[in-house]
Amino acid sequence: MAAKRILLIIGGGIAAYKAIELVRLLRKAGMTVRCVLTRAGEQFVTPLTLAALSENRVYTSLFDLKDEVEMGHIQLSREADLVVVAPATADLLAKMAGGIADDLATTLLLATDKPVLAAPAMNVRMWLHAATRRNVRALRGDGVTVMEPDEGEMACGEYGPGRLPEPEAIKRAIDEALSSPLPQEGDFSGQPDFAPANHRPLYGRRILVTAGPTHEPIDPVRYIANRSSGKQGFAIAAAAAAAGAEVLLVAGPVPLPTPPGVVRVDVETALEMAAEVQAGLPVDAAIMVAAVADWRAADTHRQKIKKDGSGAVPPLALAENPDILAGLAKSAERPPLLIGFAAETNDVIDHARAKLARKGCDWIVANDVSADPMGGETNRVHIVSQDGVDSWDRLPKQAVARKLMEKIADELDLRSPPDSD
Ligand code: C5P
Repeated sequence: MAAKRILLIIGGGIAAYKAIELVRLLRKAGMTVRCVLTRAGEQFVTPLTLAALSENRVYTSLFDLKDEVEMGHIQLSREADLVVVAPATADLLAKMAGGIADDLATTLLLATDKPVLAAPAMNVRMWLHAATRRNVRALRGDGVTVMEPDEGEMACGEYGPGRLPEPEAIKRAIDEALSSPLPQEGDFSGQPDFAPANHRPLYGRRILVTAGPTHEPIDPVRYIANRSSGKQGFAIAAAAAAAGAEVLLVAGPVPLPTPPGVVRVDVETALEMAAEVQAGLPVDAAIMVAAVADWRAADTHRQKIKKDGSGAVPPLALAENPDILAGLAKSAERPPLLIGFAAETNDVIDHARAKLARKGCDWIVANDVSADPMGGETNRVHIVSQDGVDSWDRLPKQAVARKLMEKIADELDLRSPPDSD
């Protein structure tokens, strides 16, 4: 197996000396290490020490890379398997969270397409400050693994969390990040502080998800809709983003928060959803989870339809909505992997097989709704494809979403292997 390549960014802080030990540990483990020192970092450790230990050139400023023929900053940011920031100062974390790129280190962090692990070190008050908490939450939401600092006496004499984790602990976190476990349940469901999100099997893939119901107005106060909480679709969008995909979520009207890292477009009607889906193409995979209303009112009344007291009901003419999934299957920009959902109460698999053929998609995720999962937290699904049926146990919707991402990643890798750079 090729030696793992680490790009180590060393921020300014008294703990920077521990980065020297970290370089030693990584080299001992057979990894190649390229070091980048921030201007503040240079005050604490010298490029010479790091160059000697890493046996590699050390970079300190964007101008070191002036000779773009030799090594451009984009290349430097991408040739590693993992980018490690240690120590990650409050200032560096803030810049990372804000997308600021005003020196070599922050430019590399913004330009990289590789997982990032940050080992923070700062004064306890700085670590506990609302601004740092906010930045750490944002970074974890973006998929950066931010380690918890150690607790103890600080160089400044105060006591509490903020010490740089020991080099051995950072090395373990690096090994873990490189071994790439899938994000665990809950990573994206209100606990971003615990998101490891360092494995991205869908990195470089663009995924479209539709979710929720559509509302088809009859008049300004009434509409036609299917029952749908949007939870499964949102969990799928969240899992796709956590797995590294670029995710476009076209969402019908549901009061759910946008999962971290997901681009969300809100729509009301099936026609709007169809247009946004079209605008989102091309994608590597589309997962159509939305419960699209089959019909819309043929004429929308601009004013509220009034009861006139006579007992007569107003005529309600319906028009058929486009089938977004079937339309996508036939379009010139058909995604290489097209997945539909089906809610069934009986003969789940037979109905799903028929739907697979009718819609022209690659998989139907058939949902057994006989035990009332509408709005519930769990789902029992069968993945029906030309190859057969993959039946899963009843699982939390987040777990269904994660398992589906693994299956999608495998399928996409099979069809078009990811770039090996
Ligand atoms: O036909 P049915 O509504 O049962 O099909 C469900 C699947 O088709 C889901 O994937 C749903 O998102 C998609 N669909 C669609 N446009 C419609 C109706 C359903 O994309 N108008």
